[in-house]
Amino acid sequence: MTTTSAAISQPLDTQAGVELMIRLEEVEKVYRTDRIETVALTNVNLAVRTGEFISIMGPSGSGKSTLLNIIGLLDVPSSGKVVINGRTINSYSDRNLSRVRNEEIGFIFQTFHLINDLSVQDNVEIPLLYRRSMTGGERRRLAQEALDRVGLSSRVHHFPSQLSGGQQQRVAIARAIVGKPRVLLADEPTGNLDSQMGDEIMDLLEGLNEQAGTTIIMVTHDPRQAEKTERIHRLFDGRQVN
Ligand SMILES: Nc1ncnc2c1ncn2[C@@H]1O[C@H](COP(=O)(O)OP(=O)(O)OP(=O)(O)O)[C@@H](O)[C@H]1O
Ligand SMILES: [Mg+2]
Repeated sequence: MTTTSAAISQPLDTQAGVELMIRLEEVEKVYRTDRIETVALTNVNLAVRTGEFISIMGPSGSGKSTLLNIIGLLDVPSSGKVVINGRTINSYSDRNLSRVRNEEIGFIFQTFHLINDLSVQDNVEIPLLYRRSMTGGERRRLAQEALDRVGLSSRVHHFPSQLSGGQQQRVAIARAIVGKPRVLLADEPTGNLDSQMGDEIMDLLEGLNEQAGTTIIMVTHDPRQAEKTERIHRLFDGRQVN
C-alpha cells in the first residue's frame, strides 16, 4: 500500500462518514480593551461539509464578522477548537497559520478591499506573491484564468476606480480564487451592490461552489441571498440560535 505524505500530514475530518472542511467546537471570543470586555461569541459549534455553501445571518454586532475572521484564521478564539480541513489549528505557529490561510482560504469583503493604484491584473496577482516558487509568467497566467472565470478578462489593464461596483467585487472574487482555495469566506459580498449586481455576484458564487466544489461561507443581511444557500446559521448576541 502506498501512502502519500500529504495524506499523513492532513487527516480527513469526518462526522458520521461525511467529510468536514470546517469544524468549530465551543468557540468563545472575548475582546478586551482598557476598560471594557466584549463577549463577541459564546459557545459556537459549527460543522461545514466539504463542498457546502452556507450563510450566516444575525443582527449588527451579533458576531458574524468575528466568526468569519476566526474561521479564516485572521483572528484567534479566546477558547475552543478550530479544525480546518483536518488540521487542528489552535497549536499552529503564526507562520503556519499564514501559510494555511494563503493556500486554503479566499476572502471577499463588503467593501472589496482592492488596491486603487494597482491594475486589475496586479490586484489579482497579490495572493500569489507569497508563493515563492511561482514564476511571474505563472502568476500572470493564473490571474488571467481567474479574471476569465469572473468574466473580466477584457479589463486586466483597468484600475479599480474605472470599474463599476459589481465589477470591482468580481475582481475581488478573482483575487480570492486565484490561488484555488478550497474555502471561500465572504463577509456581506453583496452589501454594497444593487440587487441586480448582487444577484450576479450570487450566481458567480453558486457557480464556484457547484463547478469547483469550493466550500463557501457567506455572511449576509439579505434573506433573499441567504435562501439560495444550503443552510442558514443564525447568530444573536454572539450565540447561535439554530
Ligand atoms: N477588534 C475588536 N475589539 C473590540 N470589540 C470588537 C472588535 N471587533 C468586534 N468587536 C465587538 O464584537 C461584537 C461583534 O462584532 P462583529 O463585527 O463580529 O459583529 P457583526 O455581526 O459582524 O456586525 P455587522 O453586521 O455590523 O457587521 C460587537 O459588539 C463589536 O463591538
Ligand atoms: Mg460584520
